[in-house]
Amino acid sequence: MAENKENLKMEAIVSLCKRRGFIFQSSEIYGGINGFWDYGPLGCELKKNVKDSWWKRTVRLREDVEGLDATIIMHPDIWRASGHAAGFADPMVDCKDCRKRFRADQLCEEQGLQLVKTATGFALPEGCKCTACGSTNLTEPRAFNLMFKTFVGPVEDENSVAYLRPDTAQAIFAEFGNVLSTSRQAVPFGIAQVGKSFRNEINPRNFTFRSREFEQMELEYFIKPDEAVELICGHVAKLTPETDLSEPQADWGWEIWHRYWVEQRRQWLIDVGLPPETIVEYWQKPDELAHYARACVDFEYTFPFGTQELEGIAARSDFDLTQHQVHSGKSMEVFDEQLKNAVAALDDAARAAFREKTVAEWVSRGKDPEKAAAFVDRLFEGKYIPHVIEPSAGADRMTLALICDAYAEEEVPNDKGKKDVRTVLRFSPKVAPVKVAVFPLVKNKPELYAKAREIFKTLRAEWNCFWDESGAIGRRYRRQDEAGTPFCVTVDFDTLENGTVTVRDRDTMRQERVTVEDLVRKIRAAVG
Ligand code: GAP
Repeated sequence: MAENKENLKMEAIVSLCKRRGFIFQSSEIYGGINGFWDYGPLGCELKKNVKDSWWKRTVRLREDVEGLDATIIMHPDIWRASGHAAGFADPMVDCKDCRKRFRADQLCEEQGLQLVKTATGFALPEGCKCTACGSTNLTEPRAFNLMFKTFVGPVEDENSVAYLRPDTAQAIFAEFGNVLSTSRQAVPFGIAQVGKSFRNEINPRNFTFRSREFEQMELEYFIKPDEAVELICGHVAKLTPETDLSEPQADWGWEIWHRYWVEQRRQWLIDVGLPPETIVEYWQKPDELAHYARACVDFEYTFPFGTQELEGIAARSDFDLTQHQVHSGKSMEVFDEQLKNAVAALDDAARAAFREKTVAEWVSRGKDPEKAAAFVDRLFEGKYIPHVIEPSAGADRMTLALICDAYAEEEVPNDKGKKDVRTVLRFSPKVAPVKVAVFPLVKNKPELYAKAREIFKTLRAEWNCFWDESGAIGRRYRRQDEAGTPFCVTVDFDTLENGTVTVRDRDTMRQERVTVEDLVRKIRAAVG
């Protein structure tokens, strides 16, 4: 029953998105194309506000983060180095009777079962059946690489194969050296990118949640290895419940940096309008982590179709830059003056003790002692490959979460004393696609109409505004409620007399008379 209600809510949201021009199915006039979505006039404003807010907080307001806008198609070796060419795959199964295709883990999950891991891949558990026709005549799960393939240039052969990027992160690693040498940054610092990514998802679903073309907002924040921090500071700060995460400190190791970014990201989710109590923090268990990752936290949101990931914050060690160093043959090391000076101040005994301790620690983590010794040698020269903390978010998922969270249907009294259902999107004014709508009370009074246009133009210089001159004022309010517009302004005869307008608040539906100057101040305070 509860699930049914949630399904109905999702259907109502999808229908509102189409009706009001937030999101349309791509290529609808040709029957649509599964997993691709277009953002209409309101949707593209909303998503742009989400991306702009992310960019402002992550790049503009920080001195230690630089931006990047890289190409979607890159050298195919990038995907060999990153591991995507070999391993970016989902297990796929087909029903031999009805020919429906599934992602094996999702098919199992829907039936309360778990996909079985084998030495060579995956196997279906006992009792797993096709959810479309009920048959148990299913193929074995086989790996399906999610990268979209294309050819660069006129010849379609193996040498011209390229891929549409499946994430924006790898371009950041590939451009690490160029950004470092041109930006005057030093570790710790970050590189951020917002842009399209493509994944040939086996089973795109839940509206825009799992699409084949989507946008990511990713930050790679490069930090010193803990061993370098220890040499420079004499210790690595321990993460405790009392650790003050407000200002980065020189003695932070990866654990505190990771926690710092988790908190930064949480703050942003709240800033763009998700109520704190709707955000679920999920710490991946050791067996869920990628082999190179030390920790990964997912922020999840409870959509009508379930609690699902919005973004992940991973501590990825030096895996990515090391891979690109090995595959490209170009050094990804940095030279750290502070480290060189700290090592120079140590005597031989202190260096030997540091070497011994570091090698023993690496060996206890299952690492090769020779590699550990070589790492220490490079540290003593002031050199290392930076480690990375990666907050990686999806702009489409965030936009969908905001729409779901904002959506409300409520009963309100109408003029006849009866009850109407009002559909409203309670977006935070910061991300609302339209900030203010302007209505002339009537359109056949030239002076009043001209005054309303003048006010509209004043507001439009600063915010995305909407002009509506048709229908009763009550109907105009309802239209703006569905668009999530926080303020509606009516220009009437009193405006001509005393310069005041009526401003109506979307959430409280209260109206007040204010001067145009006060109106501007009010909107500015809400929108930020
Ligand atoms: N570089 C790391 C990375 O790409 P990910 O968990 O695969 O990590 C990061 O993706 C974010 O990108 C996800 O948390 C999600 O918000 C978004 N995302 C991933 N696949 C998506 C899809 N098929 N449709 C929409 N958003 C997606």
